[in-house]
Amino acid sequence: MKTILAKVDLRQSESAEVIRTAAKILQEGGLVAFPTETVYGLGGNGLDGAACEKIYIAKGRPSDNPLILHISEFEELNAIVREISPAAQKLMDAFWPGPLTMVFPKADIVPLKATGGLDTVAVRFPSHPVARAIIKAAGLPIAAPSANSSGKPSPTRASHVEFDLNGKIDMIVDGGAAEWGLESTIVDVSGDVPMILRPGAVTKEMMEEVVGRVEIDPAILTKPAADLKPKAPGMKYTHYSPKAEVVLVKGERQAVADEINRLAALDMSNGKKTGVMATEETKDLYHADIILSLGSRDRPEQIGANLFKLLRKFDFLGAEKVYSEVFSEEGEGMAIMNRLNKAAGYQMIEAAKASDS
Ligand code: TXA
Ligand code: MG
Repeated sequence: MKTILAKVDLRQSESAEVIRTAAKILQEGGLVAFPTETVYGLGGNGLDGAACEKIYIAKGRPSDNPLILHISEFEELNAIVREISPAAQKLMDAFWPGPLTMVFPKADIVPLKATGGLDTVAVRFPSHPVARAIIKAAGLPIAAPSANSSGKPSPTRASHVEFDLNGKIDMIVDGGAAEWGLESTIVDVSGDVPMILRPGAVTKEMMEEVVGRVEIDPAILTKPAADLKPKAPGMKYTHYSPKAEVVLVKGERQAVADEINRLAALDMSNGKKTGVMATEETKDLYHADIILSLGSRDRPEQIGANLFKLLRKFDFLGAEKVYSEVFSEEGEGMAIMNRLNKAAGYQMIEAAKASDS
């Protein structure tokens, strides 16, 4: 299959043609990758089981891992869900359009192919103007998982999508870098108390201000037991992982640097290409084959926006082992640490203080 690659800038009039082409492909059952404010999505007609099937095949995604339906108007929600709880209504008034996905009881019109066989459906109303323009022009709810090959870090740039899916999908719409860089928060609003299934830009604290109590699926920050069934089926799969083995090292700044340098020296002496995921404040403390900075520790939004790009870059540079610093789990930090823990398969070492040894 030849994949159409098209740049889009909505300030330019040629963009209307790109949006029309994308919409037509979606209406005809094809697949189009497009930017959102979180990560790039791989879109298909969410009401067409055959189009959803194509999404699973292109990504190599297990078919029990449900898709998120994307809408471009509040009214579109009524057709695809069976019930909107008062809490869901408040959350959507506060955070849509934006990086929040909500899980509702599904309406019959939504095919089980889209929901991985579940009787609930995840819905998001993205804020990105290109995503909204494409969904609106298609006139359909658009099923869109992250546009990566299953298991790889989510794509934050069109070039990432091209690397994973070129030749497997009909079109890639390039709207520049995804601003937030981590996938949306998922909150289940089908029960009494909203429960966060995946942390993201909309934090627990932000939602609690709007609806009072919000719970967190315990599988989010701790290594799930082998028999635990996470409520977001996608959270059970290895994710975001580069080819390299990733190890997190926590502790006081200098102790972390000393420990990483010691371990990296050992790996390198064994002939392993070794990398460090550092920050602006710490990058000069390290000795390794590849040292990349996530950005400033004072700006979690930079760390989040760069994380997947850097994981992909370590792959590209052939890293076999990557050590990473850890971050606070406060606020948006929870999303960062959730993705880092998954990339590392929950391997975390505590660096001893110099005075302890
Ligand atoms: O930011 C995002 O949400 C991006 C952009 C493209 O919108 N999309 C995204 O989709 O991250 P995906 O498919 O990579 O992740 C969807 C997650 C999976 O973990 C899946 O298991 C969960 O949502 N999910 C989908 N439907 C669900 C449902 N009915 N109940 C519980 N979890 C669900
Ligand atoms: Mg994904």
